[in-house]
Amino acid sequence: MSARWIPFDVSLALTDPFAQFAQWFEEASRELREPEAVSVITSDASGQPSARMVLLRERTDSSFGWFTNYDSRKGHDLVENPQAGILWYVEPLGRQVRIEGVVARMSPEESDAYFASRPRGHQIGAHASGQSEVISSRAALERRVRDVEERYEGGTVPRPAHWGGFRLTPRYFEFWQHREDRLHDRVIYRPEGEGGWLLERLMP
Ligand SMILES: Cc1cc2nc3c(=O)[nH]c(=O)nc-3n(C[C@H](O)[C@H](O)[C@H](O)COP(=O)(O)O)c2cc1C
Repeated sequence: MSARWIPFDVSLALTDPFAQFAQWFEEASRELREPEAVSVITSDASGQPSARMVLLRERTDSSFGWFTNYDSRKGHDLVENPQAGILWYVEPLGRQVRIEGVVARMSPEESDAYFASRPRGHQIGAHASGQSEVISSRAALERRVRDVEERYEGGTVPRPAHWGGFRLTPRYFEFWQHREDRLHDRVIYRPEGEGGWLLERLMP
């Protein structure tokens, strides 16, 4: 058996899925350049799903957060349907984690604090880009950037109201571990009782 594929089982899993994720995240951080990169899956009111990568900027013991444009496709989806999925793959360790839950916006104060920590170029971009809208050309986009730079020249760039954080509160986790014999390990967590979680094994 390859040393990079470590067997996983209900008996080995931590009882708290956030702690389990933190452990896998720490192990992934030694293998990946950008372990924060995850796919976020949303769907609109018609049920049409869509997926895209984001960077997990916040991991707490009860939620996962990222920042984006509230007027983007995912932003509109999350207004129509505040349920979403997160998918994470760690190829060197043969691991996949699937998380499902309910999404809410972070508070304006939380988004302000994170926005203020971003490099100025990112702040300008957040104003200039109408994320997920059609634009005629790259030159037109660059003109918008120059306009924003002129507007805030010499001053701080405030957070645009259309930009901020989302936070997903999970109600389902699946930790998947590759096994060489293809009988991959799958451990799921579902809420049980007061703040507890039920752990079960799924067949591969
Ligand atoms: C590795 C990676 C990380 C990304 N991180 C973010 C992010 O944190 N926030 C964001 O809005 N877009 C991020 N993007 C861009 C999104 O994948 C996507 O193109 C954009 O958010 C528009 O998505 P939407 O039209 O589905 O709303 C990232 C893309 C990649 C490849």
